[in-house]
Amino acid sequence: MVPDSANRTNAVPTIELNDGHAIPQLGFGVFQIEPEDTARAVSEALEVGYRHIDTAEMYANEKGVGEAIRASGLDRADVFVTSKLNNGFHRPDDARRAFQATLAELGFDYVDLFLIHWPLPTLYDGDYVSTWKTLEELARDGLARSIGVSNFQVEHLERLAAECDVVPAVNQIELHPYLLNEEVRAHGEAYGIATEAWSPIAQGKVLDDPAITAIADRLGRSAAQVVLRWHIQRGSIVFPKSSTPARIKENFELFDFELDPADVERIAALDKGEAGRIGPNPDTFAYVPS
Ligand SMILES: NC(=O)c1ccc[n+]([C@@H]2O[C@H](COP(=O)([O-])OP(=O)(O)OC[C@H]3O[C@@H](n4cnc5c(N)ncnc54)[C@H](OP(=O)(O)O)[C@@H]3O)[C@@H](O)[C@H]2O)c1
Repeated sequence: MVPDSANRTNAVPTIELNDGHAIPQLGFGVFQIEPEDTARAVSEALEVGYRHIDTAEMYANEKGVGEAIRASGLDRADVFVTSKLNNGFHRPDDARRAFQATLAELGFDYVDLFLIHWPLPTLYDGDYVSTWKTLEELARDGLARSIGVSNFQVEHLERLAAECDVVPAVNQIELHPYLLNEEVRAHGEAYGIATEAWSPIAQGKVLDDPAITAIADRLGRSAAQVVLRWHIQRGSIVFPKSSTPARIKENFELFDFELDPADVERIAALDKGEAGRIGPNPDTFAYVPS
């Protein structure tokens, strides 16, 4: 059971989404956590105070997420849970079945947020529109409280705007000091789509950067805390992943210090554009699990 004293959700700001729902700005990501380790890591995170968990069908660990939330004794309504559609199931009937499988794995009767994980513009005849319309149905039925996309480029968002009814509540994109992804982020800001920054510390690759360690040393914080705080001050939603208890705790301690505007600018100046990307390019990514 998570004791009441561990509930420090009040420290974490929430962001209001364009559908009126609220999402905690800081969460816990579980990409690359082995299925058998997931319940333990999520329990650790809930104990520290995280109330937002980001998983996906393709991470194969939704079951552990649901188990840990139930074991915590917290009300289901107090934890914001995101999952994402498997790349193999974009066709509407497949997407409906895959979503039901997500609910079954989690052991819940709704998710807070469901995303199209990748646009896959070179697959399915380039049709992510009918996939999005299927997510619109899930939202209408109340099974996904909010719906959004991940790795969508401006062109993909513009097509949804032209052909669909609902504007995605979020776009979850690669974003960290080496890849600001500014065109996509700015489009989201202009059209009311909240930006979620995946790999917020670039899987550790930005933590030795001298510009970042200088700020960290000056403030007496870790490099990871400085980078995560930078995201928070720029208004992005983040969910760093860690399997290490001390880091899970460290990454939550972001609300008792602030970066001054010059430091925020200094970190933004590290942007390397496309050269800074660590994950696949959404325009060409076409992975489908076997
Ligand atoms: N939508 C998408 O396509 C997509 C793609 C990638 C990620 N995501 C989401 O974004 C979440 C976060 O991204 P990510 O997992 O790729 O990368 P990340 O959170 O940027 O970095 C995770 C890595 O950094 C290490 N780390 C964590 N905290 C640290 C700290 N305080 N000091 C030093 N090292 C630290 C972790 O090591 P240990 O675990 O060993 O501690 C792990 O190797 C994912 O879990 C997932 O939910 C989404």
